[in-house]
Amino acid sequence: MNNENYEIIVDSFWLPKAASTVAPHVDQGWTLALWVSYVFFAIVVVGMAVLVWKYRRKSANDRTSNAEHSTALEIGWSVGPLVILIWCFLVGFRGYIEASIIPEGAYEISVTASKWRWNFAYPNGKSEVNELKIPAGRPVKLIMSSSDVVHSLFIPEYRVKQDVVPGQYTTVWFEVPEPGKTRLLCTEFCGTAHSDMLANVEALAEEDFEAWLEAGDGGDDLPPEELGEKLFAKFTCNACHSTTDNLARVGPSVKGIFGRTSEFTDGSSLTVDENYLRESIENPGAKLVKGFGNLMPAFKGQLKDRDLDALIAYLKSLD
Ligand code: CUA
Repeated sequence: MNNENYEIIVDSFWLPKAASTVAPHVDQGWTLALWVSYVFFAIVVVGMAVLVWKYRRKSANDRTSNAEHSTALEIGWSVGPLVILIWCFLVGFRGYIEASIIPEGAYEISVTASKWRWNFAYPNGKSEVNELKIPAGRPVKLIMSSSDVVHSLFIPEYRVKQDVVPGQYTTVWFEVPEPGKTRLLCTEFCGTAHSDMLANVEALAEEDFEAWLEAGDGGDDLPPEELGEKLFAKFTCNACHSTTDNLARVGPSVKGIFGRTSEFTDGSSLTVDENYLRESIENPGAKLVKGFGNLMPAFKGQLKDRDLDALIAYLKSLD
């Protein structure tokens, strides 16, 4: 558990670091297309400039000569590009096959996207929000679904991008040879906090990964208020709930929430206490504050009691 944001490493002029085994294939296709564009740009622009100069009007009665058919030219400008296109296709197809066929024995991680966070669940039951840890030197398969709208998982350094759709599973795989840190982003516009829908990604050496998998999350060592503050940031609650002023965002401000009177869409009201806070985290639709929609994802079954207590302790501390 930490609030450090990992960076995407950019180590060349155009592209981020190529950190996965499929990345060089993607970059090959991209570089080929780039160079074809450079060369044809030069041919077209230089050719145009030369011809404009060569065939400029030289006298008042200068006449343009009639263009004649040239079979050699016709064949040349048909076959040349065809060869280049076949070359592009072969390079792209090889990379596509590499990216599509998931190696057997890949390590599987379940991914659930929701507005606006990423949940990663491991085979041993461990789950993490906005923190993806993977074993280095081993194929990893992500089995992904969304609990609300369409999101899209994008890890630029790994050159993988795949839509995450409600009601079905999509998959993506990659292998990262060396341990390292990078960033994952949502690349399908999914609402207000789309641009905050980020996660840290870390490839760990096999033994470090095993150790991490077995270890607790470190939350037991923190005082509840502090843990709550970290969780609040980690779940990007602050994208919708202000903690510093009384202005409403997507959801009501939580500054000074404890003990205030909340009015609900059904006309009822109550004084905010621990039970109400817990219900609002686990099942936000149960009581909707007047003027707000039912937009928050339900956390029921996703938080340990310790984490719920910590979040409530933090909310109580926001005077
Ligand atoms: Cu999720 Cu954009």
